[in-house]
This record gives sequence, C-alpha cells and structure tokens, in this order.
Amino acid sequence: MTELTSQPVAVVTGAAGDIGAAIAEKLANTYTIAAVDLDQDGLEKTVRSLQDQGFRASGLPFDLTSADSLVELAVFARSLGSVETLINNAGAASALSLQHMTRGDLAQDVGLNLEAALNCFKVLEDDLIACGHANVINIASVNGLGTYGHPAYSAAKAGLIHATKAIAVEYGKYGLRANAVAPGTVKTQAWKTRQSDNPKVFEEALRWYPFKALPEPADIAEAVSFLLSPAARCITGVCLPVDSGLTAGSPALPRTFTQSPDFDGT
Ligand SMILES: NC(=O)c1ccc[n+]([C@@H]2O[C@H](COP(=O)([O-])OP(=O)(O)OC[C@H]3O[C@@H](n4cnc5c(N)ncnc54)[C@H](O)[C@@H]3O)[C@@H](O)[C@H]2O)c1
Repeated sequence: MTELTSQPVAVVTGAAGDIGAAIAEKLANTYTIAAVDLDQDGLEKTVRSLQDQGFRASGLPFDLTSADSLVELAVFARSLGSVETLINNAGAASALSLQHMTRGDLAQDVGLNLEAALNCFKVLEDDLIACGHANVINIASVNGLGTYGHPAYSAAKAGLIHATKAIAVEYGKYGLRANAVAPGTVKTQAWKTRQSDNPKVFEEALRWYPFKALPEPADIAEAVSFLLSPAARCITGVCLPVDSGLTAGSPALPRTFTQSPDFDGT
C-alpha cells in the first residue's frame, strides 16, 4: 500500500472500468488515488498502470452495495491521507424495459447507482467536511435527464442528480461542492453485450447526436477535472452533460416539425 503523504486523496469508485480508469489517471497528477472496484483484476490493472507512471495509487477490491461494511472504504481511504474528493463513478444497468423489469433488477439498479453513491458520501462525510474545500462528483447519465431505455437505472441516475443538489445545498456551508456529470454514449465495456448483439450499435447511436462524435472516457475525465478545479469554484449543484448535444435534441424532430431541409445532415 502507498505511504501516507500530504497529497490529498481522491476516492474513485468503479476505477477498473473505462471511465473510472480515465478519471483516476486524469486526477492522479493532483491526488493520491484510492481506487475501489468489485473487479479485482481490473482494479489491479488500473492501480499498476498509475504506479508505473509514477503516481500514488492504491486499490480496494470492494462491493459498494454491501452498505454494512462501507466503513472499510473509509478506513482504506484515510490510510492514504486527507480525503478531499469523492468520485462516485461505479454504475451499471440491468433492466432494459419496464415490461421486463423484475423487483430484483430494480433493487440492483437503485442499490448500485443511487444508494451506493449516497452511502459512500455518508461514510466519508466527516473527512470531506473536515478538509474545508471538498468535492463530490457523481457520474450520472443522460438517462437521468430523459428517456433512453433502462428505466430502473434511469430512475436511479435521476435520483443521483437530485442527491447531488441536496449535497450541494446542505454542505455548501462547509466549503464542499457537489456536481454531477451526465455522459452520453461512451464506448466502454458496459456496451460489450450490445455491441456483440449489434456491431453497428455505435454507428446507429451517433445518428441521434447533433455533434457527430461520441464522447470518450477521456472527455468525461476532462469534465470531472474542470469541475474539481479552481476555475469551477462557484459551480455547485449542477449536472453537466458530456453528451455531444443529445439532451439538447435530435435534428430529426425539428426536421419533421418545420419541414426545413436545414435540419438534414449526415
Ligand atoms: N458508457 C456509457 O455509455 C455511459 C453513459 C452514461 C453514464 N455512464 C456511467 O459512467 C459510469 C462508468 O461506466 P462505464 O461505462 O465506465 O462502465 P464500466 O462497466 O466500464 O465500469 C463500471 C465499473 O463499476 C464497477 N462496479 C459495478 N458494480 C460494482 C459494485 N457493486 N461495487 C464496486 N464496483 C462495481 C464494475 O466492476 C466496473 O469496473 C457508470 O456510472 C455509468 O452508469 C456510462
């Protein structure tokens, strides 16, 4: 394990995943990374890659939905230094539609995407308050802002966006800022099954995006880094979409409503 240092600590959950690993790498210049994930092999890969680049990082294999043992996460993070930043990035979707959603799916999607994030915040809240200038970033989704399928996941992400505002309002007096980032379609391992079912899934997705490039994990990491930076010191309680314009709309709809070819495109 990395030695205790004066460098502040950022807890990054889901750090074995593509977006989590990109966030951890981006923040490693400034923070000691306390990387947390269920996937032990993936976690070791992320931590080793950071250490190989000369950064301070340590990993805790952990199931974030086991609320009763979350104190282990706090003990781990504190052992690395002063915990100043929490990135709630771990997330996943199960139920595809309401018609096929079971009670188990609902519990799973809400348990990971909403409850685990809030529980992580609660278990670290004293540390975050104590530092006097803490940040919480919740990785939400465009699914929390509109209807794109995966209803249980979407409801949980909408809840996470609300929870972000609640944290910002109640903890602003402690110098704490809380913001959310809502990615659009990002090519990650989360899309593996859908991509093998339909190799053209990203091509088809892109048709709905006004700006003709899908965000990459590094784009999400850049947004996180900005929200943590002094440049964003008066930004709190917001949800920043990194979605190539998806939540602004899709050109096909105004094309129909106006019948104007100005909305035609590639
Ligand atoms: N990829 C996208 O298109 C997209 C779009 C919008 C939002 N997001 C959000 O971005 C975040 C990262 O997603 P990603 O695409 O990198 O997915 P990913 O599957 O690559 O990474 C998610 C990580 O979370 C971990 N995880 C899952 N359950 C866990 C648990 N119970 N305890 C600990 N760790 C757990 C997984 O092991 C995995 O490493 C998620 O919150 C996701 O909802 C992704």
